[in-house]
Amino acid sequence: VAANWKMNLLRAEASAWCRAVRRELEAVPARSTVLVFPSFPMIPDVAGELRGSVLEVGGQDLHPEDKGAFTGDVSGAQLADAGCAWALCGHSERRHGHGEGDELVGRKIAAAARHGLAPMICIGETRAERHEGATFSVLERQVRSAVSSLGDPEGRRFAFAYEPVWAIGTGETAAPETAQETHGFLRELLGELLGAERAAVLPILYGGSATAENCPSLIAGPDIDGFLVGGASLDPGKFLGIIRGSD
Ligand code: PGA
Repeated sequence: VAANWKMNLLRAEASAWCRAVRRELEAVPARSTVLVFPSFPMIPDVAGELRGSVLEVGGQDLHPEDKGAFTGDVSGAQLADAGCAWALCGHSERRHGHGEGDELVGRKIAAAARHGLAPMICIGETRAERHEGATFSVLERQVRSAVSSLGDPEGRRFAFAYEPVWAIGTGETAAPETAQETHGFLRELLGELLGAERAAVLPILYGGSATAENCPSLIAGPDIDGFLVGGASLDPGKFLGIIRGSD
């Protein structure tokens, strides 16, 4: 279960969030792996607050190059140095808000892997693509490109997050049957690309208006392994509700 804070919270709020979630998970441990993706300036503080806890920290984006004249960008080496274990790659707000295509997302996945960061690879179709019946072909293109960028996936930690673009931040969650059907398709495709054994244990998260209320019916889908949570992750109580609802 992963919290994607996006461009929200200030340092004091982030620290309070970390203390609240850490305290609760130390009192009553969760079965789920729990991740948090803060904005860049908060990563060192958050990593410090969460050191020695079960929570892991990731960056929301990274530049494909290791260093250089890239004003405003952050490298995989800098994320790792700041205490990250993960990096979001290809979030729809990067694909659609910043014009990032599969090729650039692939280079970011490779950069994450090069710096020992586990890529959380985000994929998803737009509303228009779903209406055109193109959902599976869009996802297949995104997944094939992502997997080919990973290099040798043997022994490497990574995960996929299926986030239908029309469900992100809209309050419109995919119906559990729709989400399961899509995750089933992804699991099968990943089986073809990575081998059935690896695909069976690869985390495939759902994202898009996930809440404590709708997550139990979604997690009931056999191919839905967890959640990438935006809006509902900002409040520690709501986020803990999703963790508990996923266990
Ligand atoms: P949301 O965002 O939960 O606010 O829909 C999910 C995401 O974009 O990761």
